Amino acid sequence: MLLEGKRAVVYGGGGSIGGAVARAFGREGAHVFLAGRTRAKLDAVADDIRAAGGTADTAVVDALDAAAVDAHAAAIAPIDISFNVISQGDVQGTPMAEMALADFERPIVTTVRTHFLTWRAAVRHMPETGGVLLAFGGSGPPVRGYSIGGLQVAFEALEQMRRQLSTELGDRGVRVVTLRTGGVPESIDATFEGRDRIERSLTEMTLLGRTATLADVGDVAAFVASDRARTMTAATVNVSAGALID
Ligand SMILES: NC(=O)c1ccc[n+]([C@@H]2O[C@H](COP(=O)([O-])OP(=O)(O)OC[C@H]3O[C@@H](n4cnc5c(N)ncnc54)[C@H](OP(=O)(O)O)[C@@H]3O)[C@@H](O)[C@H]2O)c1
Repeated sequence: MLLEGKRAVVYGGGGSIGGAVARAFGREGAHVFLAGRTRAKLDAVADDIRAAGGTADTAVVDALDAAAVDAHAAAIAPIDISFNVISQGDVQGTPMAEMALADFERPIVTTVRTHFLTWRAAVRHMPETGGVLLAFGGSGPPVRGYSIGGLQVAFEALEQMRRQLSTELGDRGVRVVTLRTGGVPESIDATFEGRDRIERSLTEMTLLGRTATLADVGDVAAFVASDRARTMTAATVNVSAGALID
């Protein structure tokens, strides 16, 4: 198993992407600490991990709350791997020039603040041998023909945090990596009526004729978090099936 003996915290672990990554970490032998705001969602993922033979604990933590993040990190220390998928609060479909300030800045503040707090807390509790900070989102070219408000700005900020932090933490053996996709249709609510149309358009944008599944994202995250990827830092990993060309 790739992550045997590792302790991994997943912020947003009750959601689609966070849940998939947490399940993959659990399957690969990590002790997974799921953090998020809704207990029932976290427990459902933890139950899956345990049913598959893994180890998981849950905690309700608002990742925007510095004191809550610090207390939780101290309680689960030591931390080998920290994964954060939180970039919530974006408003889409409204042109930027017509958008309310609060709607524009919400995903930026959420992304930057939760990553700053959770990364800072994890680093304080990483072993002397180092650790891994992972994030999901990444940057990409501007989206044409559709307005995504502050979300892409948030992802660009995250990439710069990744670059800066990796230079500051390299000598402590801490790796910092982001993953980016061209969209994971499975994560769209099955009851949403535009789901098929979005899936078709996301698929058309790929080179491989298929989009990433949640399991695909979990598999790559587990590899990147493992010692097999010990040379990877200051990097972003493209899991877009060619939708994003580096
Ligand atoms: N899915 C994709 O294809 C895709 C592609 C590119 C980027 N992204 C980005 O990745 C993020 C996650 O996507 P997803 O599909 O997994 O979303 P999701 O299913 O809504 O999961 C997000 C999780 O984050 C948690 N969360 C939000 N704010 C939090 C906070 N302040 N403290 C603690 N937990 C918090 C939520 O918990 P609660 O429900 O309890 O609040 C939820 O479980 C999104 O922001 C999206 O912009 C997604």
